[in-house]
Amino acid sequence: MTRRPEAELHAVHAIAMLPEPAEILEKRTFGPDIHSYQLRLRNPAARPRFDFVPGQFNMVYVPGVGEVAISISSDPDDEDLEHTIRIVGRTTRVIDRLGPGDVVGLRGPYGNGWPLGDARFKDVLVITGGLGCAPVTGAIEYMFRRRASYGHLTILHGVKKPADLVHRSHFEAWRRQPDTTVLLTTDQPDRAWRDRSGVVTELFAEVEIDPARTVVLMCGPEVMMRYAIQDLRGRGVSDERIYLSLERNMHCGIGACGHCQLGPFFLCKDGPIFSLHRVRPFFAVHGL
Ligand SMILES: Cc1cc2nc3c(=O)[nH]c(=O)nc-3n(C[C@H](O)[C@H](O)[C@H](O)COP(=O)(O)OP(=O)(O)OC[C@H]3O[C@@H](n4cnc5c(N)ncnc54)[C@H](O)[C@@H]3O)c2cc1C
Ligand code: FES
Repeated sequence: MTRRPEAELHAVHAIAMLPEPAEILEKRTFGPDIHSYQLRLRNPAARPRFDFVPGQFNMVYVPGVGEVAISISSDPDDEDLEHTIRIVGRTTRVIDRLGPGDVVGLRGPYGNGWPLGDARFKDVLVITGGLGCAPVTGAIEYMFRRRASYGHLTILHGVKKPADLVHRSHFEAWRRQPDTTVLLTTDQPDRAWRDRSGVVTELFAEVEIDPARTVVLMCGPEVMMRYAIQDLRGRGVSDERIYLSLERNMHCGIGACGHCQLGPFFLCKDGPIFSLHRVRPFFAVHGL
C-alpha cells in the first residue's frame, strides 16, 4: 500500500476545513423564524466537490460569527444548494439578517445519506416533524424521479403550528403523484388549516404498512421518533429497516473534535443517519 506523505495529508485536511464562498441567490421565509436560502458557489469549479447524496449536511460559516451544521434540502441534481434554517441562537440569528447578494462559507458535504439503494423496490414510509423534513426533502425528490424503482410512498409530516410548515408546495405536488400518500398534521390548527390536527404519530392509525416490505426514513424531534418507533415495532417493522437522522451539536464536522459523540459513534462521520439497529442502546439513553 502506498502511503501519502504527512505534509500532503495535512494539506488535504486543511482544504477540507476551508469554507468555500457561496452567494445567496434567493431567500424564502416561512413564518417568523425559518428561511430557505438558495446558494451558488462563487467558484463554479468547486461545485463537483459539493456533490452530495440526500441526507448529508454542510457546515455553513458566517465570517466572524461561527459555523453551523445544516442539512442540504435541495435536489442533488440542482446546480444550486439549498439550506433551510431555523433561527435559534448566536449564529443563526446573524444568518437571519442575510439576504440575496450576501456571501456565506460552505464546508462539506459531510456525513452519510439515506439508504436509498436498500429502499429500492420497497415501500417507503417517511415520518418527519418540524424542520425534520429538510434533510429528507432531497431523498423524496430523488425517489420521485426514479418512481418505478420504489413501491408505495407514504409521507407523514407534523408541525407544531401551521406557520412551521415549510415548502407546502412540495407536499401538494407529492400528494398528486400516483401510489403516494401524504398526510400533514399540526398540534395547533388555525382556521385556514385544511389537514389533520394532532401529533404526527396519530396519523399512523390511517396508514397501512406491510412490515416485510417497508423501509422507514425518520427525522425530527427525538421524542417524536421514540413514540414512532414504539408504534412501528408494534406493527412488526424490524429495527434494521428503521432509519433515523440524528442531531447533536457539531463543531468540526469531520470526526476530529468529539463534540457530536453518541456512544462509540461520531454523528458527523458515522451518521447523521443510522439504522435503529445500530444506535438502539445509545438512542434509548436520555441525555446521551
Ligand atoms: C446533521 C445536522 C443537520 C442539521 N440540519 C439543520 C437544518 O437543516 N436546519 C436547521 O435549522 N438546523 C439544522 N441543524 C441544527 C443546527 O445545526 C443548529 O440549530 C445550529 O447549530 C444552532 O446554531 P446557533 O449558533 O444559531 O445556536 P446556538 O447559540 O449554538 O444554540 C442555540 C440553542 O440550540 C441548541 N443547539 C445548537 N445546536 C444544536 C443541535 N445540533 N441539536 C440540538 N440542539 C442544538 C443549543 O444547545 C442552544 O440551546 C442540524 C444539525 C445537525 C447536527
Ligand atoms: S463534529 Fe467534531 S467529531 Fe463530529
